[in-house]
Amino acid sequence: MTTPRIDFELKPSAHPLSAAERETVLADPGFGRHFTDHMVTISWTEGRGWHDAQLRPYAPLEVHPSNMILHYAQTIFEGLKAYRQPDGSVATFRPDANARRFQNSARRLAMPELPVETFVEACDLLVRQDADWVPGSGEESLYLRPFMIANENGLGVRPASEYLFIVIASPAGAYFPRGVKPVSVWLSEEYVRAAPGGMGAAKTGGNYAGSLAARAAAMEQGCDEVVWLDAVERRYVEEMGGMNLYFVYGEGSDARIVTPELTGTLLPGITRDSLLNIAQDMGFGTGEARISTDEWRTGNADGTLTEVFACGTAAVITPVGEVKSAHGQWLVGDGEPGPITKRLREALLAVQTGRAPDPHGWMHQL
Ligand code: PLP
Ligand code: COI
Repeated sequence: MTTPRIDFELKPSAHPLSAAERETVLADPGFGRHFTDHMVTISWTEGRGWHDAQLRPYAPLEVHPSNMILHYAQTIFEGLKAYRQPDGSVATFRPDANARRFQNSARRLAMPELPVETFVEACDLLVRQDADWVPGSGEESLYLRPFMIANENGLGVRPASEYLFIVIASPAGAYFPRGVKPVSVWLSEEYVRAAPGGMGAAKTGGNYAGSLAARAAAMEQGCDEVVWLDAVERRYVEEMGGMNLYFVYGEGSDARIVTPELTGTLLPGITRDSLLNIAQDMGFGTGEARISTDEWRTGNADGTLTEVFACGTAAVITPVGEVKSAHGQWLVGDGEPGPITKRLREALLAVQTGRAPDPHGWMHQL
């Protein structure tokens, strides 16, 4: 079935930030602290479908106190990045994959599915309009945050009859303030992120709200992040707060790179999927498997498990240096970033920043 084309109304901002103010922001963007001059909004109403697509100035939303979104959290989001290319143009990384995951999240939250091409076009429009906000070089990028919220007033618990899809954009430096320094992680046995049949594979706000107490517990233990374990046995490694995990067994060209299999309770990361491909292209063995915390501990102790790293859009690839749990703590390798972690990080960023060929056709040129 072909979807009817949605035409966007363009309402450029009369007061964009001055070039000097923008350059000040871009000199130290941080993560998610500053937003560009515009946003895209599209409404959905039962019986009418998607309508009123606009590119308009970034501005607050008017929300009634009784809006369902404030009470029952029917909301989903995505995260993807636009990178400056060597010729000065801009390209986004796998926006169609984000669009498809957004549809999957929408189904789980009983929300309407935005057509893939509309999702991609909305991102394209915003990036083109605010292209001056895409940092000039290196690993820095413009982080796009498409999201959808219920937009109906009332306290009945049921799917809303109106929704708002929005895309905002934020220049992004390093997600972790310390850059690519290894993080320390806390294996969470007290709290779980997602149970079978729950919302773990959807990118929805509730999963992140539920993670915050566990993150605070991790910080009390002196750790940077939480590692989630399976809800049933609390034995198998699932993922981190905003990243998937990878385990490197062995060294050099014989290394095997394994990530927890998709059980329905963890987020199917686009970086995770991309790295499975990149690792294969580089000649490494790869796998998706269940990995227990015991295997993690003994693998580090006997040296068969050489490196562990986390990966995601915001954090790219971040080495895991130290693991703590209620039963003890240990270092991953010597606690420093491993050579394969560094090679994979460089290979992924080289594709994203246009410094390497793109054999999988992941870059979407604007
Ligand atoms: N897991 C969680 C819980 C996340 O929030 C993210 C970030 O999006 C990821 C994994 C990594 O997914 P992706 O690589 O698509 O950004
Ligand atoms: C992302 O990497 O896009 C994320 O969503 C992680 C976090 C900022 C929620």
